[in-house]
Amino acid sequence: MLFVCLGNICRSPTAEGVMAHLLHEKGLEGQIEIDSAGTGGWHVGSAPDTRATGAAECRGVTLEGAARQVTADDFEGFDLLLAMDRQNAADLHELAPDDQARRKVRLLREFDPEAVAAGELDVPDPYYGGADGFEDVLDLVTRACQGLLAELRPNLAR
Ligand code: 4NP
Repeated sequence: MLFVCLGNICRSPTAEGVMAHLLHEKGLEGQIEIDSAGTGGWHVGSAPDTRATGAAECRGVTLEGAARQVTADDFEGFDLLLAMDRQNAADLHELAPDDQARRKVRLLREFDPEAVAAGELDVPDPYYGGADGFEDVLDLVTRACQGLLAELRPNLAR
C-alpha cells in the first residue's frame, strides 16, 4: 500500500510510520509492503518534517525515508493507494492510467468508521499550522490505519 499526500513530508510519512508501527506490534512486519509519496514534487529528497517526526517520536513511532513524487508506475507496484485528502485522491485519479488503476485509489479515512459516520474524510494538511495539527494527524491516521489493518487481517498469513 502506498500512502499519498501533497508534499510527502508530513501526513503520508506519518501514516507510513504508524502503519509500520502497528504491523510490528502485531508481528506482521514484512507481510504488507508500505511506502509513501507526494502528488507534488517540491520536497523530493527531503526527510519528513521535523515537527511530524518529533510528534511521532513521542508516541514511539519512527518516521523514515526521503520524499518522492508519486508516478503512474506506482499503480502497478501497489494494490492500494491511500490518499490523505480528496484533493490528493483527485490528483491520483488524474494520474491513473486506466479505470482499473483508478479503483486502487481510496481515502485513508474511509477505513475509520467514525470518520465515515461524520462525513469527515480528509486528513487536514498540518504544514502551515501549529503543533496541534501534527497531533491531529497522528490521531486520525492511527484510527484509520487500525481500521484498515482490521479489514486486511483475515487475508494475512499470521
Ligand atoms: P504534506 O504537507 O502534504 O502532509 O506532506 C505539506 C508539505 C508541504 C507543502 C504542503 C503540504 N508545501 O506546500 O510545501
